[in-house]
Amino acid sequence: MPFLSDSLSRVKPSPSIAITTLAGELRAAGRDVIGLSAGEPDFDTPDNIKAAAIKAIEEGKTKYTAPDGIIELKRAICDKFQRDNGLSYTPEQVSVGTGGKQILYNALMATLNPGDEVIIPAPYWVSYPDMVRLAGGTPVIVEGQLETGFKITAEQLEQAITPRTKWLIFNSPSNPTGAGYRADELKALTDVLMRHPQVWVMTDDMYEHLVFGDFTFCTPAEIEPGLYERTLTCNGVSKAYAMTGWRIGYAAGPKELIAAMRKVQSQSTSNPCSISQWATVEALEGPQDYIKTSKEAFVRRRDLVVEMLNQIDGVTCPVPDGAFYVYPSIKGLIGRTSPAGTAISDDEAFAKALLAEADVAVVHGAAFGLSPNFRVSYAASDDTLREACRRIQSFCASLS
Ligand SMILES: Cc1ncc(COP(=O)(O)O)c(C=O)c1O
Repeated sequence: MPFLSDSLSRVKPSPSIAITTLAGELRAAGRDVIGLSAGEPDFDTPDNIKAAAIKAIEEGKTKYTAPDGIIELKRAICDKFQRDNGLSYTPEQVSVGTGGKQILYNALMATLNPGDEVIIPAPYWVSYPDMVRLAGGTPVIVEGQLETGFKITAEQLEQAITPRTKWLIFNSPSNPTGAGYRADELKALTDVLMRHPQVWVMTDDMYEHLVFGDFTFCTPAEIEPGLYERTLTCNGVSKAYAMTGWRIGYAAGPKELIAAMRKVQSQSTSNPCSISQWATVEALEGPQDYIKTSKEAFVRRRDLVVEMLNQIDGVTCPVPDGAFYVYPSIKGLIGRTSPAGTAISDDEAFAKALLAEADVAVVHGAAFGLSPNFRVSYAASDDTLREACRRIQSFCASLS
């Protein structure tokens, strides 16, 4: 009898966490590695949020809470959805979890049966297909291409839907590309979903506040109210308020689904950290200046990175609408050889050689389901990014 469960054999560990760990080990061994693989803001959590957490500790708010969140936070989340997205929810329609990741996982665990299909547009956040497999479902990947701005079309969605389709996971702006769906593009997708009542939508709106220029964020239930009854609108504070370590994510949707997610959570983590929940009330209800300041920094960094990467012969780097990633194509470099003799046969070989020979850690495109590309997280200082892009430029120029 095997000791490890069969379900575990269906999943692989997160490649971005693996590369970030390797970069950390190389740094600890004395190498001057620049890490651009982690998906988290380099800023500190705003002071007002930290102060709210300290106050919660001092006031003894350090005990178990209701499994899916304190009522004060649920109310703040309802206000946020009304204010930012024009969506009306009551507290019984809200679930708070240990990060956006747990919220998505709870929803999949609560709903998937063997054979159920989940449509995932690629390039995708690395965890979606594995979370679907772990929950017993079957991921169905639909590829967005460089030429379509890494977005899928209504025709592609229509073709991917079968009677077994249970969910579409919709992430805009996206990790890893930063591509965002404009209202008319999203409407074309929701029109398709309106014709298939068995399909639900799980949104991942983690990067809602990190959008640039004239791009306006929109979310499916807002664009198509007819989908309200079968949409789980997911969001969190990790990226918007530099709170990755606090582990709070949340979602709103139909009461029955929220109750099923509560059941999963009550038998796994019990409840998200009480102190982090009080900090999140402050994040959502307190001053919002941090969002504006971080956005300004990210747009400046995006422009710097896009410009420097596009100067490289063989690299094409589209300009993203949001998040803090770029996803350049290295089509023009495939088939070359590095100075140490590594054949750049695919994007994984490229990323490995870049780390080994130029001390820059990025994540290869295959991890996100679209090659040959690599993902740069530009959540680093301007000087660090300039130096990293210089290293990438000279590494690419050294390929023969
Ligand atoms: C698209 C996307 N969804 C969800 C998450 C998970 O966020 P959290 O830290 O809240 O679990 C991430 C984090 O990298 C992400 O990029």
